[in-house]
Amino acid sequence: MHVLITGAGSQLTAPLTASLKQRGHTVQALSHAELDITDDATALGVLRETPTTDAVVNCAAANAVDRCETDPIWAYEGNMRGPLQLGQAAREVGAQYVTISSDFVHGTLPSGMPLEATPLHEDLPAHPVNVYGHSKLMGEEAVLALQSQAYVLRTSWVVGERFLDHVRKQISQGAVRLPQGGHACPTIAADLCEVIALLLDRDIPHGLYHVTNPPAVERPALLREIVTCLDADPDLVTVGEDTRPAPRPVYSALATGKLATHKIEMPDWRDSLRHFVNGKPSPLQDL
Ligand SMILES: NC(=O)c1ccc[n+]([C@@H]2O[C@H](COP(=O)([O-])OP(=O)(O)OC[C@H]3O[C@@H](n4cnc5c(N)ncnc54)[C@H](OP(=O)(O)O)[C@@H]3O)[C@@H](O)[C@H]2O)c1
Repeated sequence: MHVLITGAGSQLTAPLTASLKQRGHTVQALSHAELDITDDATALGVLRETPTTDAVVNCAAANAVDRCETDPIWAYEGNMRGPLQLGQAAREVGAQYVTISSDFVHGTLPSGMPLEATPLHEDLPAHPVNVYGHSKLMGEEAVLALQSQAYVLRTSWVVGERFLDHVRKQISQGAVRLPQGGHACPTIAADLCEVIALLLDRDIPHGLYHVTNPPAVERPALLREIVTCLDADPDLVTVGEDTRPAPRPVYSALATGKLATHKIEMPDWRDSLRHFVNGKPSPLQDL
């Protein structure tokens, strides 16, 4: 299979390329400069030039949550119109399509739902609390409505090389500061990328899937565990006042039971985190 990845600067690109190649596929990763997903003509032009493309994985997004709040046009271009347009181009050349969404489509528990009834499964109505979350939700809905060969994957708190480097840097500066709490599931990037490769390889129905590592955790506890894994003192983690323009979800833990019905059980994030930090492959690699 030949797979085109857009948004090659994403922290998913390296582990995704590795997962796909390990399964015998060829990969072409295009940066923002090489393919702007919001540019009408370019996506289709690129795909027509490479008619052997079997799948397109969109890692591009307008990801800066606070910029989305103050620049909604940028948010909806990058998170709704761009992913939709790329999906349309993929459809035109008969390629499968994968695009990544976010737990930020949720923000609070649906009214009346007790905490113990969670995490949230795919069929629950979404309740975004900021423009980024709303633009991702609109992107999901547009792609799912118009692209029958699409996987829309909601993920959360992605822990990849870039995130780890950021934590290492903070450790070296003597404090790991968090402007927010929040309750969600982290996602080890290598596990998410293995799932993408598995979905493309197997005959799993297209549609919306949650892809994250259970169990849900509060963000400070996650950071303490990461800091411990990096052989530093977990007490370096502190939670400060959140003064950022965009409100953040208080609860956005995603349930992964739908994936499990297709024999993809997401590993506990504490196990996968240790695999990742110790340079071992994702536990899903052997599936
Ligand atoms: N990181 C997380 O914790 C998290 C959580 C939930 C969901 N997600 C989703 O997971 C996906 C990957 O996230 P990530 O954190 O790996 O992303 P990232 O590191 O922010 O990378 C996104 C890439 O997309 C590129 N890009 C932005 N606009 C583009 C456009 N119009 N056309 C082409 N490329 C464009 C950016 O390039 P420039 O920098 O040059 O603009 C950047 O290289 C995104 O859909 C994100 O919403 C991430």
